[in-house]
Amino acid sequence: MSVEAPAPTQTTPEPILSAAGVSKVFGGLVAVNQVSVDIPVGSIVSIIGPNGAGKTTFFNMLTGLYKSSGGRIVFSGRDITDDRPDVITKLGVARTFQNIRLFGAMTALENVIVGRHCRMRAGLFGSVVRAPWVRAEERAVQDRAAETLSYVGLRSNQFGQLSSNLSYGDQRRVEIARALASDPKLLLLDEPTAGMNPQESAALTEFMRKLRNDLELTILLIEHDMKVVMGVSEQITVLDHGEKIAEGAPAKVREDQRVIEAYLGKQS
Ligand SMILES: Nc1ncnc2c1ncn2[C@@H]1O[C@H](COP(=O)(O)OP(=O)(O)O)[C@@H](O)[C@H]1O
Ligand SMILES: [Mg+2]
Repeated sequence: MSVEAPAPTQTTPEPILSAAGVSKVFGGLVAVNQVSVDIPVGSIVSIIGPNGAGKTTFFNMLTGLYKSSGGRIVFSGRDITDDRPDVITKLGVARTFQNIRLFGAMTALENVIVGRHCRMRAGLFGSVVRAPWVRAEERAVQDRAAETLSYVGLRSNQFGQLSSNLSYGDQRRVEIARALASDPKLLLLDEPTAGMNPQESAALTEFMRKLRNDLELTILLIEHDMKVVMGVSEQITVLDHGEKIAEGAPAKVREDQRVIEAYLGKQS
């Protein structure tokens, strides 16, 4: 008589990030209204919605730039709802900004090195005294920053250029490199294809997949380009007037009546 093997237990992995009923109120305006989202480990998830829907505000709460007015945010099993941005970065959450925030008077390479500071041992004292180990660490950080810039597609003759002199698309790449320099587990990209032409957008879409696969990252994306969103996302959350109006796979969200209305009503 054969003994049947027990059926494998289906366990859903813990989400890397879980936002539960998160809200943000500015004066009388409810910019984000009790939004809950679970981001599976290793996934590419998008947040879409018309202008002013609360997408960037939601990112700002996830990264600690805004204190949420309500709700709870858990990253890798830790409650980060009230943590400071630098703490959240160190835990493994990195981001880029809708309006590029590079140091224009610094080179591409220097911008990426800044992104590494949260992982460096040398504090101010070590940097001033320049002990040998500090110099060794600086060299290692420079080499790594250069590698990261190559990885995101910059040419080596651009590494020493002031970031303000780079094209818009290249500045976006440097921002991604700076975010990657902090060794994130979760990367938040706020409209990374804004201002890019269709070729650049397609290349970035491919690059996001590569990033996720190469670095075992989880990516949360705010994106207005539907071609990018539908092509790259495994899950889409739709916000409108601060509220989550739909969620699911691209094919499902695309057909959702509330989503269609939200877009037809307000977008170009
Ligand atoms: N710091 C702030 N102070 C006051 N209102 C804000 C602030 N940030 C965003 N808002 C408002 O919150 C709403 C959502 O904005 P935002 O999150 O930037 O939308 P989205 O990124 O979806 O376009 C908008 O009405 C916006 O004007
Ligand atoms: Mg925005």
